[in-house]
Amino acid sequence: MRRFLLIILPALVLTTWGAGALFSQVPEGEPVPSSTGQPGESCVACHGRITPGIVADWQLSKHGRNDVGCNACHGDAHNSMTDVSNAKLALPGTCATCHEAQADQFKKGKHALAWGAMKAMPGLHFQPMAQIEGLKGCGGCHRIGTKTEGEIEDLASKGSGFGASSCDVCHTRHLFSKDEARSPQACRTCHMGVDHPQWEMYSSSKHGVRFLLKQSRMLPEDAAAPTCQSCHMQDGNHANRTAWGYLALRLPFPEDAQWAGDRTTILQGLGILDMSGNPVPRWAALESSDVFRTTDEAWREEREKALKSCNDCHSINFARTELEKGDQLIREADSVLAEGIRVVAGLYRDGILKKPENFLYPFPDLFAMNDAPTVIEQKLFSLFHEYRMRTFQGAFHANPDYTYWYGWSSMQKCLTEIRERAAEMRAGAAAKSGETPKGPRRK
Ligand code: HEC
Ligand code: HEC
Ligand code: HEC
Ligand code: HEC
Ligand code: HEC
Ligand code: HEC
Ligand code: HEC
Ligand code: HEC
Repeated sequence: MRRFLLIILPALVLTTWGAGALFSQVPEGEPVPSSTGQPGESCVACHGRITPGIVADWQLSKHGRNDVGCNACHGDAHNSMTDVSNAKLALPGTCATCHEAQADQFKKGKHALAWGAMKAMPGLHFQPMAQIEGLKGCGGCHRIGTKTEGEIEDLASKGSGFGASSCDVCHTRHLFSKDEARSPQACRTCHMGVDHPQWEMYSSSKHGVRFLLKQSRMLPEDAAAPTCQSCHMQDGNHANRTAWGYLALRLPFPEDAQWAGDRTTILQGLGILDMSGNPVPRWAALESSDVFRTTDEAWREEREKALKSCNDCHSINFARTELEKGDQLIREADSVLAEGIRVVAGLYRDGILKKPENFLYPFPDLFAMNDAPTVIEQKLFSLFHEYRMRTFQGAFHANPDYTYWYGWSSMQKCLTEIRERAAEMRAGAAAKSGETPKGPRRK
């Protein structure tokens, strides 16, 4: 394709500013902006040969049609084949010069914190570099977060100079289209998969089914169907946050004593509280990334915002009880997870299972367990990272199958496997030492 264009493009450029004719999606008669870098050949003319897809997108975009040239975002310092390294890459601050409102909102939301939250995870340095800073695995999604100047320089020096712009993940470059960003598909690449399958849950819920039928014009355009954005970016507000968040943990502790105990066990399992229940440094890292709401007011404010979105289509009583059922499922799921944590903790305590060196305490470290050496530890990781998530996320996203089969039922199965394996390990250890095995101690 590129070789073909290299041959035909110079000829077209000689005619009526030919790139416009070649990428003929620009309607006839509309002025084609002259936006260029000076002096010498223009950005658009040269890039029409070098990266024709970028030029075509830009021409279709509001920027192309409003004379916001390549140089508005990339500067003028690069303007030839030999000075490419002088090109600036657009950071959120670059967009902010013209879109202050959205940039300010974005900074106040959780997306802006995504890079820091990823970096706060223990065990990250055990992963291949390309998975993190190379923007392939974790970094491929968490690049939505803003980075400090120092981080950007450091990334560039390691060969990862691209991907620092945050604003191009929903309205992607160089179309920067509002219609694309408003579609739930814009969220899909990141909000999918093992621990946050919001796309899968939404698209197969009645909400998503209706919306997708609207997209394929089976239902009238005005039919009511919420998108991710109707609930999470009300009025186009770029500051996003939910009440429970990813971990579904919050302060203050509930009055319900059992739930409070289970939550303490989970916080200890996450290495956020120490064995006496006091906060440790990881707490501060996660708190500064706004991972959980630390007051009732902060939680309630987000909950009321969510309810307001439901109330566009449902009665407030319907919506309130639906969301409260989600809260109840968090309580139930916490009790199953806490029991799993206690079973594995018992194995460390009784010397049946050797604590991996990178764990803070002789206690499961759920954040570091992805790479733990034994099957029982990895099962506990799945109980936390996959099944508990699905139980409550499915409830909040009106998806019965995720809530029950992929969530709750899988938690029960996984806990049974953890218990059984623990009993086998105890029996094995006792046989070695010639004792009768102790049962797993309950709380
Ligand atoms: C004479 C041709 C030419 C002109 C004029 C030109 N560029 Fe480039 N530009 C290139 C080449 C070649 C690359 C390297 C990418 C490639 O080879 O695919 C590049 C790369 C870039 C990059 C990516 C930087 C990177 O590290 O890959 C940006 C951004 C860019 N140009 C913007 C501009 C802007 C803005 C202008 C006008 C001010 C401009 N270019 C003018 C040829 C040109
Ligand atoms: C509204 C701002 C904006 C405008 C206008 C713009 N770009 Fe970009 N461009 C970006 C952003 C954002 C990135 C992604 C930077 C990053 O990876 O951090 C980017 C990346 C690039 C890249 C490197 C990444 C890639 O996908 O190859 C090239 C080359 C490039 N732009 C060329 C151009 C050219 C040529 C034009 C004009 C036709 C242009 N840009 C206009 C914002 C803009
Ligand atoms: C030099 C000013 C300028 C800069 C810098 C700029 N924009 Fe724009 N942007 C505009 C103008 C002008 C419009 C058209 C506004 C209109 O139609 O009312 C626009 C429109 C948009 C739209 C709406 C498109 C639509 O489909 O309606 C989006 C999204 C957008 N810009 C994103 C960005 C992002 C992201 C960046 C940074 C990578 C950026 N802009 C940088 C001036 C700018
Ligand atoms: C490039 C990847 C990416 C895209 C695209 C993306 N997100 Fe996110 N989103 C993330 C990451 C990563 C986080 C976690 C950030 C953090 O809290 O540190 C997140 C967090 C969130 C949260 C906050 C959850 C909480 O903890 O309270 C909401 C809500 C959200 N996203 C909604 C959306 C919606 C709606 C869209 C589409 C319009 C979208 N996201 C597009 C990566 C993405
Ligand atoms: C497919 C995209 C994707 C990948 C890959 C990914 N994440 Fe995430 N991550 C997200 C999204 C989306 C969220 C928010 C989900 C939610 O709130 O339900 C998130 C949430 C988080 C959070 C919680 C942030 C908060 O404030 O609640 C942390 C920490 C985190 N991810 C770290 C990592 C690490 C470390 C890796 C790699 C080992 C990783 N992520 C891989 C998309 C991704
Ligand atoms: C999580 C996805 C997401 C991210 C990240 C994102 N946007 Fe948007 N953006 C949207 C959505 C959705 C809309 C359409 C909102 C609406 O319906 O009015 C939008 C609309 C816009 C518009 C058009 C506003 C208007 O009313 O015409 C601008 C400008 C814009 N965004 C700039 C930015 C800038 C700057 C950033 C980075 C600081 C950014 N966006 C990051 C999702 C996103
Ligand atoms: C009908 C409204 C609605 C729609 C549509 C919706 N959500 Fe949610 N979402 C919620 C509610 C309600 C919560 C839980 C709020 C709370 O914590 O109280 C939530 C929670 C979340 C969370 C935090 C973790 C979790 O799942 O509990 C993320 C991230 C998220 N949604 C992303 C998305 C994405 C991405 C889409 C589209 C694929 C989407 N949501 C569609 C209402 C919605
Ligand atoms: C834009 C309109 C719209 C919004 C906003 C909306 N819903 Fe819905 N919801 C619907 C429609 C339409 C259905 C399908 C109704 C049916 O099955 O007859 C539905 C179905 C449901 C269902 C399935 C049970 C049932 O009655 O069929 C639940 C649960 C639900 N919504 C909860 C919520 C919650 C909670 C919120 C807010 C977080 C919300 N919805 C926001 C339109 C909406």
